[in-house]
Amino acid sequence: MKVLLIGANGQLGTDLHKVFRAAGDTVVAVTHAQVDVCIPEQVEKVLAESKPEVVLNTAAYHKVEECEKKSDLAFHVNATAPMNLALACQRSNAVLVHFSTDYAFGGYSKNAPYEESDRPAPLNVYGTSKVAGENLIAFSTDRYFVIRVCGLYGVAGSSGKGGNFVETMLKKAAAGDAIRVVDDQVLTPTYTFDIAEAVRKLLLTGTFGLYHLTSEGQCSWYDFTRHIFECAGIQANLTPCKTTEFFSPVKRPAYSVLSKTKLRSLGVSMPLWQDALPRYLRERTHKK
Ligand SMILES: NC(=O)c1ccc[n+]([C@@H]2O[C@H](COP(=O)([O-])OP(=O)(O)OC[C@H]3O[C@@H](n4cnc5c(N)ncnc54)[C@H](OP(=O)(O)O)[C@@H]3O)[C@@H](O)[C@H]2O)c1
Repeated sequence: MKVLLIGANGQLGTDLHKVFRAAGDTVVAVTHAQVDVCIPEQVEKVLAESKPEVVLNTAAYHKVEECEKKSDLAFHVNATAPMNLALACQRSNAVLVHFSTDYAFGGYSKNAPYEESDRPAPLNVYGTSKVAGENLIAFSTDRYFVIRVCGLYGVAGSSGKGGNFVETMLKKAAAGDAIRVVDDQVLTPTYTFDIAEAVRKLLLTGTFGLYHLTSEGQCSWYDFTRHIFECAGIQANLTPCKTTEFFSPVKRPAYSVLSKTKLRSLGVSMPLWQDALPRYLRERTHKK
């Protein structure tokens, strides 16, 4: 397959590049500095030059707190730009693969994993802009995969957020900090390498649409942190706390676990979150 990868040096982009290249695909990988997804002329030019069958778009503005203040920018990067990209893909007959978020949910309580058919109810500007992007893509092309992911960590670290949660916790432990982590936000942390492998399998099914793609299982951020230290063999000064103990201008979902029933129905499976983490820890050590 001939693939154009936008946002190639991000956390997910790095693993998509690795997985698709290893599978023998031709990957034209462009960074933000090379192609800004918000500039239609740049998008048209790279599509015309690379003539991809598939476009993978990882570009996003996802500094959640900044999005509250810069909502125009959030909607530009997360909604208008994906719409323009989808229209360009439709014109050039390319399949668009775009990534969205578990932050599509949270506005009503559900204590069972969210299905793709559940009504989105984002709690903040970031989530709202991403849901807008999902819908604008669906209106603009009929050959798309919109894939909601959750709690990403990967060896490249998120360029938008300056690292990832696992690295932040390991750094705090190494510095001997007292670490307090919320135990009342439940999610599914997911290794970007596993996402990249599943994306390729999903793509090959040719079954377009909206998908939830995370590891299996669920945990609080506190449970996840405990598991990080256990797997890394670190004794850390860790205690649980509540979301209300931290001031934040942004509302976040208390529960944002995504159901993988639709994904599994296509024969695409994901590992348990507990099993993914040790592989990540091995890969990061190997990389250093
Ligand atoms: N990280 C998470 O926990 C999480 C959770 C749920 C959903 N998601 C979604 O998953 C996707 C990938 O996230 P990630 O963690 O891999 O993020 P990331 O590491 O920040 O990667 C995003 C990439 O997009 C690039 N980019 C940003 N704005 C761009 C623009 N206007 N034009 C072209 N490229 C641009 C960034 O480059 P620069 O850094 O150079 O700007 C970066 O390389 C995003 O759609 C995000 O919304 C992430």
